[in-house]
Amino acid sequence: MRSLQMNFNIKNYINFWAKKVDSWLDSYLISTDPHINGLTDSMRYSVFAGGKRLRPALIYSSFGVFDGYFDKVTPFAAAVELLHTYSLIHDDLPAMDDDDLRRGKPTNHVVFGEGVAILAGDALLTKSFEIMTSRELNPDVEPEIMLEAANKFAIATGDRGMVGGQFADLKAEGGNFDENTVAFIHMNKTSALIAYCLELGAILGYADEKGKKDMLLFGKNIGLAFQIVDDILDLTSTSEELGKNAKSDLKKDKATYPAIFGIEKSKRIADDLINTAFSILDNYGEAALPLKELAKFVIQRSN
Ligand code: IPE
Ligand code: IPE
Ligand code: MG
Ligand code: MG
Ligand code: MG
Repeated sequence: MRSLQMNFNIKNYINFWAKKVDSWLDSYLISTDPHINGLTDSMRYSVFAGGKRLRPALIYSSFGVFDGYFDKVTPFAAAVELLHTYSLIHDDLPAMDDDDLRRGKPTNHVVFGEGVAILAGDALLTKSFEIMTSRELNPDVEPEIMLEAANKFAIATGDRGMVGGQFADLKAEGGNFDENTVAFIHMNKTSALIAYCLELGAILGYADEKGKKDMLLFGKNIGLAFQIVDDILDLTSTSEELGKNAKSDLKKDKATYPAIFGIEKSKRIADDLINTAFSILDNYGEAALPLKELAKFVIQRSN
């Protein structure tokens, strides 16, 4: 384990899991009828446009704290990445953030048109539940584990989570926000799904209630830090480096941490959140090393 610590390269680590998820998705995301070829093309376009695949790495790493049979995680990690991709397609629509660059490529609606982009998002969202609740795809996952995973997924990503956050984000546009509102937006639009990833690993790994709670809390902290860093990068990085439109938040007077606290204080808040997240892992020893590295990556990343 000492050697793992010394040689640990976070990008290689994330890519290792990304390859598993990508090859699984490549064979699963196929057109089932010529009538939907264009829809499948649109779904695949965004799924394989080159995302970081951070969420799958978080799920595998949380699972690894409790269990070692990683194969059973892959369809769940794939499902989460599909839902995340749907959220990006819809987030970029003219009626939302109105962006034309994502993952280094023209956004889905720019290439396929708004109608198809909306439907591709809808189909990715529902496909994520199709995958997660399939007995055939998940022969080693007990029905009660599957039910808990799917139910918590729905809660984390619907009106009580991600979609609720996106709604509040939309309402706050134009400078209509305070500290409390921004915290609500970020905890929901972004942190809820990231926290779910950590909890999901624990659920699949048969963690006890304490284990699940610890992972969820770790995830909430790094999830909020992740969105604060996203806000900072929007201001300090280039579109080329980000693979998405820089200064997009300014254009719409978006509710962001830098808008309230400035860049320096926002960085300190993100650092504090990562330190809090670290302290939650104190009792988990070396099995939690990848999670610690992922937490560091959240604030050190450049895109
Ligand atoms: C972007 O998420 C949307 C936010 C929640 C800020 P990522 O930065 O993980 O995007 P990809 O998946 O790498 O494209
Ligand atoms: C998006 O937040 C969060 C979701 C897609 C749910 P942002 O609007 O800040 O994400 P980017 O900057 O476009 O990736
Ligand atoms: Mg947005
Ligand atoms: Mg956006
Ligand atoms: Mg952003």
